[in-house]
Amino acid sequence: MSDFFENRSSRQYFWKGEGTMSIDDQTIAAIREAVRLSPGSIPLRQHLAELLMLKSAYIEAEKEYRQALMIDPDNKQIKIGLAEAFYSQEKNSAALVLVEELTGGEDPHPAALMLLSRIYLRSGDEVQAARAYKQAVTAEPALFDSELEVQLQNFLDGEHDDDDDDDDDDFRLKLPLEELPSGLDSDVERPDISFDDVGGMDSVKEEIRMKIIHPLEHPEIFQAYGKKIGGGILMYGPPGCGKTYLARATAGEVNANFLSVGLHDVLNMYIGQSESNLHELFEMARENQPCVLFFDEVDALGASRSDMRHSSSRQLINQFLAEMDGVNASNEGVLILAATNAPWHLDSAFRRPGRFDRIIFVPPPDRHARRAILEILLQDKPVEKIEYDKIARKTEGFSGADLKAIVDLAVEAKLSEAMRAGHPGAITTGDLLTSLKRLTPTTKEWFATARNYALYANQSGIYDEILAFLKLTR
Ligand SMILES: Nc1ncnc2c1ncn2[C@@H]1O[C@H](COP(=O)(O)OP(=O)(O)O)[C@@H](O)[C@H]1O
Ligand SMILES: [Mg+2]
Repeated sequence: MSDFFENRSSRQYFWKGEGTMSIDDQTIAAIREAVRLSPGSIPLRQHLAELLMLKSAYIEAEKEYRQALMIDPDNKQIKIGLAEAFYSQEKNSAALVLVEELTGGEDPHPAALMLLSRIYLRSGDEVQAARAYKQAVTAEPALFDSELEVQLQNFLDGEHDDDDDDDDDDFRLKLPLEELPSGLDSDVERPDISFDDVGGMDSVKEEIRMKIIHPLEHPEIFQAYGKKIGGGILMYGPPGCGKTYLARATAGEVNANFLSVGLHDVLNMYIGQSESNLHELFEMARENQPCVLFFDEVDALGASRSDMRHSSSRQLINQFLAEMDGVNASNEGVLILAATNAPWHLDSAFRRPGRFDRIIFVPPPDRHARRAILEILLQDKPVEKIEYDKIARKTEGFSGADLKAIVDLAVEAKLSEAMRAGHPGAITTGDLLTSLKRLTPTTKEWFATARNYALYANQSGIYDEILAFLKLTR
């Protein structure tokens, strides 16, 4: 594998390279083939999407970025890529929603700030554009862009207060109305995985069984005890630890349909006729019952952003809660699951009884779970006798997705070896250990943030499980 994939920071932003580089179709076809062989590889897909951007094939690039985001919903580079693809198609609002998310926190992403600057400029707001541009270049000088500097020259030297956000409100209104993405992305599917395909996570599986599977299968028993059926389970925890995966497996486990509502549907709701779309989604689930209706990254929907500038967010939350409460229709046969990596951004109204009253922490897999996950990941691949325990011991802090990355890397290495040698070889313990060394576990960063919320914003004790996991007490 060339070091192209690792060296993301030297990435050329597409608008600089636009027109100046010719990408031959053969290269694209080769990468496409590689993606087909290794569909779970984010770097490959990202590479393909970037090449497509360079070729101005924005619609195709958008497709690849969306696919990548489905595999790795928290990948900032992919989100920026997707925002760029939106921007290039003049889908300004869609680009803006993504970019706002990436620039909203304490540590705004420089490349996202750059794109924000361009979106502002396109909307005719040079002052804001200059501000975002300055912030981007201060954070990452390599982003310097002479063309933008020229366009913004009259606005770059003036004193602008960086904390003043007052103008943001009417900014949206100045955007030219564009083709809005219409309708829903989501489709009902029937997952072919079940709980057996999910390694570890035993207590989470048990909660799901008790709270939503048994009531679905034996409503009469629950009614006999006067137990109300309804509400959903909210899973939270570090990225890549199997929340989304387990939600799909839940549907597979009970032979139910699966309807996943992701960031993109939420984006469309913000942009388009939001409330009616949300209603449509619940209706779709009701019509297809039994159905697991899964809200992935539900915080995007129910953000308790103190700066909730757009009243549309509030309306969306209210509509969601009404649908969930079954105000106008029965949710019988609909299992509601949700997941988030950032529960602290979720509006507290979601946590009331009958809504997401079960909030489950999904920790990184322990040693046994890691072993189980590795076995699952390798079960259909050519392997020599693998020392699973050894690898499980050496992967403390690795998420399920990190473990998958180890396997993906080993597969890629084997593939290129096979191309050279002309015959495929089996994956060995050594191969896995080699790729393991090239990766660092991704859950640590999450715990650094989570720790603070658990220690200082744990009013109702909802983060006690995080404290227990970190062996801290309040
Ligand atoms: N417990 C697990 N068992 C098997 N595979 C897992 C497990 N956890 C994660 N994975 C793998 O990692 C990928 C990413 O996990 P995902 O469910 O998207 O994480 P999350 O939603 O918590 O961010 C999954 O698609 C799956 O391939
Ligand atoms: Mg997920």
